[in-house]
Amino acid sequence: MKKKALILGIESSCDETAASILEENNEGVPNLLSNIVSSQEEIHKKFGGVVPELAARSHINKIDLIVDKALKKSGKKLSDIDAIAVTGGPGLIVCLSVGLNFAKTLAMTLKKPLIVVNHLEGHALSPKLVTDLKFPYLLLLISGGHSQYLAVKNLGKYKRLGTTIDDALGEAFDKTAKLIGIKFPGGPLLEKFAEKGDPEKFQLPKPIINKGGCNLSFAGLKTAVLKISKKIKTDQDKHDLAASFQKTIEEILYKKTKVAFNEFRKLYKNKNNTFVVAGGVAANKKVRKVLIELSLKENFDPIFPPLDLCGDNAAMIAMVGLEKLKIKKYDSFDHPAKPRWPLDSEAIFLKGAGVKL
Ligand code: KG4
Ligand code: ZN
Repeated sequence: MKKKALILGIESSCDETAASILEENNEGVPNLLSNIVSSQEEIHKKFGGVVPELAARSHINKIDLIVDKALKKSGKKLSDIDAIAVTGGPGLIVCLSVGLNFAKTLAMTLKKPLIVVNHLEGHALSPKLVTDLKFPYLLLLISGGHSQYLAVKNLGKYKRLGTTIDDALGEAFDKTAKLIGIKFPGGPLLEKFAEKGDPEKFQLPKPIINKGGCNLSFAGLKTAVLKISKKIKTDQDKHDLAASFQKTIEEILYKKTKVAFNEFRKLYKNKNNTFVVAGGVAANKKVRKVLIELSLKENFDPIFPPLDLCGDNAAMIAMVGLEKLKIKKYDSFDHPAKPRWPLDSEAIFLKGAGVKL
């Protein structure tokens, strides 16, 4: 009987040290055996954001323990592993280097293939861990560093339909949270904080809402929040501002996703219309709700990763590793860490965000 493929995934691009063991069963279905994520929230909390040097030091201290934990939970031994998949970028270079060097040493020692994975491709393929996801599909990637609409044609084949021209959505959540006085990590706490507020209280701008196709912009929104935050006095005002921000984001995503649906339909006529939303902000329940409602109205099949697979994890890195193992797409031991690594190859030829408004 054919041996089942077994992958070790490693992730250390920012402030999560993560390792995962993923197996492909005899039917070709991925079976997640373990998914260990160690967050550095406590370390960075007092600085109100991620401090790269502290993050890297923590990865160095923990990475072998986390890999060990993932192996123990899976019931497998290191010698059972067929390949090691590791995040190579984008991310903080000092953090990426820790995971990458660890994976290279392990792969060299065990004489197993090394697969260097684009973190964003990990997010893009994360729903494959739990559902049968067919190419092509429309992807909205909303994380701390990226906000993009992409047509996912195949493994490694992406066409950018729209991108943010300034801040990423997760960044906008985090900066807004800071202005309102909500603690780190801003995004998830702002969502909870907003539940006690009146979303109609403050009118916030929706930059480039009627132009620029499905490109996005959040910087003006943050400036408006800054002005209001200087005037408000009560705690209730703060809840109202958070709720107004949350509602404005929902409205922007609703409108821009509608535009992205049309662009995707033009590209792929008569194909199954699948819409995947991935990245940290995909965990926002209200964002999920409005995008599911819109998808059903527009005949798109909405797919979100489960909540625990929206944020950074190594299972999604192992998932890409499994796909690459099937086509024997391995990397050399001198593969560098890439702090910038766009998914779409055209992006490197574009000046700035390459967006015409
Ligand atoms: O994908 P991710 O874990 O890391 C990156 O690759 O960037 O995304 C992290 C981002 C952070 O900005 C975080 O505040 C945001 O996702 N985020 C949220 C929520 N959960 C995480 N933003 C809004 N609502 C949430 N529930
Ligand atoms: Zn991420």
